[in-house]
Amino acid sequence: MLDKLNEIEKAALESLSSISDQAALDAWRVANVGRSSPLMGIFSEFGKLSKEQKPVVGSAANRVKAALESAEEGKSKELKIATLAKSLAEEKLDVTLPGRTVKVGKLHPTTQQLRRVLDILAEMGFQVYTSREVETDEMNFQMLNFPPHHPARDMQDTFFVEADNRGDNPILMRTHTSPGQIRAMRDASRAATDPLNPPSIRIALPGMCFRYEQITARSEIQFNQVEGLAVGRNITFADLKGTLADFVRRMFGEGARLRFRASYFPFTEPSAEVDVECFVCGGVGCQVCKNSGWLEILGCGMVHPVVLQNGGYDPKVYSGFAFGMGPERQLMLRNKINDIRYFWGNDVRFLEQF
Ligand code: DAH
Repeated sequence: MLDKLNEIEKAALESLSSISDQAALDAWRVANVGRSSPLMGIFSEFGKLSKEQKPVVGSAANRVKAALESAEEGKSKELKIATLAKSLAEEKLDVTLPGRTVKVGKLHPTTQQLRRVLDILAEMGFQVYTSREVETDEMNFQMLNFPPHHPARDMQDTFFVEADNRGDNPILMRTHTSPGQIRAMRDASRAATDPLNPPSIRIALPGMCFRYEQITARSEIQFNQVEGLAVGRNITFADLKGTLADFVRRMFGEGARLRFRASYFPFTEPSAEVDVECFVCGGVGCQVCKNSGWLEILGCGMVHPVVLQNGGYDPKVYSGFAFGMGPERQLMLRNKINDIRYFWGNDVRFLEQF
């Protein structure tokens, strides 16, 4: 029996040496140390042995069993290392390759410009006041001194949301940020502890505006505006000029020159438009400024007494100035963008340049 054990061991170790994958090793285990292996057969014949043979054969059989098991364990480790080495060789990592760029989202160019404008105005003491996009005719026009059928309404063709049964006061999409002036003044004057002495106001009103226009390279049906409003005692046109000169220098550079041209808006009197010296050609004349040397950037004026009154401010005691500008227009001028439709066209090739 001892000879047989030696043979079993020899044969098992021999067949183990040629094994090179896990499946074969599993099969080897079943065949050589499994329940119906020749080795286990020896254990089951144990009963037939004499008293003297039992311990001799028993310890020999146990030794063979332990030897086969430890040989199997060794082989198993060997196979694992071989697999790892193989995968390391196959999946070689070239650490000198350039990395993959991670695409980072950005703010829309208009939002970026809107924020630049608001940052500058904030430095100058203007607080942001956000007002609604859906307005009434009363707020968008009438309170701003446009009566129904006033010809100045033609400058602001309107999207109506609900016109039925509302007479002279249909609901509409705001055509400019100016109705926020009325809402801000009313908020402040109604909250005042002394109604004859409402607080002064210095605010910036940003947001989307809507006009029922033919969409062309020069006009869109939606665009942003930033409106400025200052109301207080003894505010003069000189304050307006100083504020806008300061703003223009902060926005377009220390040397930026500006000029005021007389204009008309129903809600300001007097009214003006402001041009900056063309920053593309330096005022010499080019395509962007259409050879005039100047670029129009905003409308402004002294708040009309009727508008102050509508906001709850006594025009005999209070005065104020207002101005309104377009971030998209500023971006177009700054970056020589010749078509306003790019802004809402959602073409990443345009957007990712900002
Ligand atoms: N609301 C005017 C527009 O949309 C812009 C404007 C002009 C705003 C003069 C003002 C202002 O506050 O004083 O065309």
